Amino acid sequence: MTKGRFITFEGGDGSGKTTQLQLTVTWLKSQGKDVLQTFEPGDTPLGKEIRRLLLSGEYTPVPASELLLFLADRAQHVEQVIKPALAAGKWVICDRYTDSTLAYQLAGRKLEATRILGDMLVWAEQGLTPNKTIWLDLPVEDAAKRMASREAEGEVANRLDHEKMAFHKAVYQAFSGIQKNASQRVKRIDARRDIAQVQSDIQVVLKSL
Ligand SMILES: Nc1ncnc2c1ncn2[C@@H]1O[C@H](COP(=O)(O)OP(=O)(O)OP(=O)(O)O)[C@@H](O)[C@H]1O
Ligand SMILES: [Mg+2]
Repeated sequence: MTKGRFITFEGGDGSGKTTQLQLTVTWLKSQGKDVLQTFEPGDTPLGKEIRRLLLSGEYTPVPASELLLFLADRAQHVEQVIKPALAAGKWVICDRYTDSTLAYQLAGRKLEATRILGDMLVWAEQGLTPNKTIWLDLPVEDAAKRMASREAEGEVANRLDHEKMAFHKAVYQAFSGIQKNASQRVKRIDARRDIAQVQSDIQVVLKSL
């Protein structure tokens, strides 16, 4: 049914997802691919509002409502953006997806990954699993250093950036576990190296598609 390819970029805050995603999009386009670049949360008109509710710092949702807001954003995004693009044969390249929900909203917030929650995640994504997921593996300490220099450059940090170290470690462990359980789909990329080396590894993985 889906003719295109669905590729997600995952990893902790500051692991280089957006940097690598943009380079990957440029590379795929140079290969003649029809590419749609997108992100979560917030890449639909409703999603933009949900993103503001989640990340402005104005509110402190309890873990359950935070999870449900992310899933609302995903349902909207999959149906309105991702599925139509795949059906049109595009390569959809998405900055964060369900693995981030598992890592941040479940593991990070210490919500037990019950069967019902697992089912809800699949339901929100309407069964749409990525063809390939790039996990940018950057230890929490290295990420913290990068984020510090980014803030120094004047970028406003959002609420999630300010979470405690223990939270980020739980997120990291979760990504690591996801990679082990789904090693065919999720490719681990050592994100400690320079930008060009990381990009070259990503291209090797995507060439297999
Ligand atoms: N391989 C690298 N080596 C050194 N610095 C890097 C590397 N990749 C990215 N950076 C820098 O680290 C910072 C974080 O990168 P980026 O914004 O791409 O991460 P991200 O995973 O998208 O973060 P977020 O989760 O906050 O969206 C940026 O300042 C970026 O320029
Ligand atoms: Mg980013």
